[in-house]
Amino acid sequence: MTFRSGDQVGFVGWRGMVGSVLMQRMQEEGDFAGITPVFFSTSSAGRPAPSFAGDAGVLQDAYDLECLASLPVIVTAQGGDYTKAVHGELRARGWDGLWIDAASTLRMNDDAIIVLDPVNRDVIDRGLEAGVKDFVGGNCTVSCLLVGLGGLFRNDLVEWATSMTYQAASGGGARHMREVLTQFGALHGAVADELADPASAILEIDRKVLEAQRGDALDSSMFGAPLSGSLIPWIDADLGNGQSREEWKSAAETNKILGRTDRFAQDWVPMDGLCVRIATMRSHSQALTLKLREDLPVEEIERIIDADNEWATVVPNTKEDTMRALTPVATSGTLQIPVGRIRKLAMGPGYISAFTIGDQLLWGAAEPLRRMLRIATGTL
Ligand code: HSE
Repeated sequence: MTFRSGDQVGFVGWRGMVGSVLMQRMQEEGDFAGITPVFFSTSSAGRPAPSFAGDAGVLQDAYDLECLASLPVIVTAQGGDYTKAVHGELRARGWDGLWIDAASTLRMNDDAIIVLDPVNRDVIDRGLEAGVKDFVGGNCTVSCLLVGLGGLFRNDLVEWATSMTYQAASGGGARHMREVLTQFGALHGAVADELADPASAILEIDRKVLEAQRGDALDSSMFGAPLSGSLIPWIDADLGNGQSREEWKSAAETNKILGRTDRFAQDWVPMDGLCVRIATMRSHSQALTLKLREDLPVEEIERIIDADNEWATVVPNTKEDTMRALTPVATSGTLQIPVGRIRKLAMGPGYISAFTIGDQLLWGAAEPLRRMLRIATGTL
């Protein structure tokens, strides 16, 4: 199936958190011009479709394979269970349209490409030419890291890297974000009287907060442990070898995005580190140690990072600039990927630190998908 201007594009999972950000970005960028959207629903087929993209009629049943198979492109942010339930069935019927997916289900398949066009447009273009049909958004930390430090990776300057993450609640989902705020509220409530009294004892406040965090009153059902006022150094499944699934993704996806698939080849970049959940809202941060293949001056490293794409932005390594521009609060809601704290480390030549932040819902989820749709429809 080849896409022609005006052709129909199916959208599944457009109402969830990632889907909503996707719809918002598509409206901001005028992405609905030149396509005819068909909105699907797993629960409300037959009801009116949203009006933000013109008259899109009624919602179609997201499990109606015949309807799905009539479309040249399907974009889904419905989640991995939906992908598992529908994608294989569609392909088994011979559907050869493009499947653009936010879920991780198909990501590591040999015949799928992880999309992050500021970094791997060449891989995407070669894939489209070769007839690849499945295009999947990458893990949020990996995508944000690579947009920020793409210049170093694409110029093959990175010998290896560790990434210690500070990942926001949004990575768990909408209910996780609510849980963090509810926990903060409960903790504040536990000591509100003492806080209002400047003469109250801080150790008593601390004791009460800890008591609330350890008690049954704090709802931790989403994260499984109190997060607000604390942290959880484990994200995603336990692989049984001491590594979390989130940590495993770092090397596997980074190299796949860069088009490097042989872990024994010279160009494979070893990556590893610990992934930590913290009580921020929607921007993931990462503290990096990079071993460069060359002992470049910091100014040259900064120039390479800054020049690579329009979103990577070097933040000068000063306290003032860091506090102004290198925080989740400064970054959330923007497409900028600030990269700061760049300096040579004491370990020796070629060792540098960096700290980078990205909005987990933008470059970490929605943005690569909407851009892939533009590439697929020939408008980017
Ligand atoms: N696995 C990520 C997280 C979410 O939990 O933060 C998006 O890739």
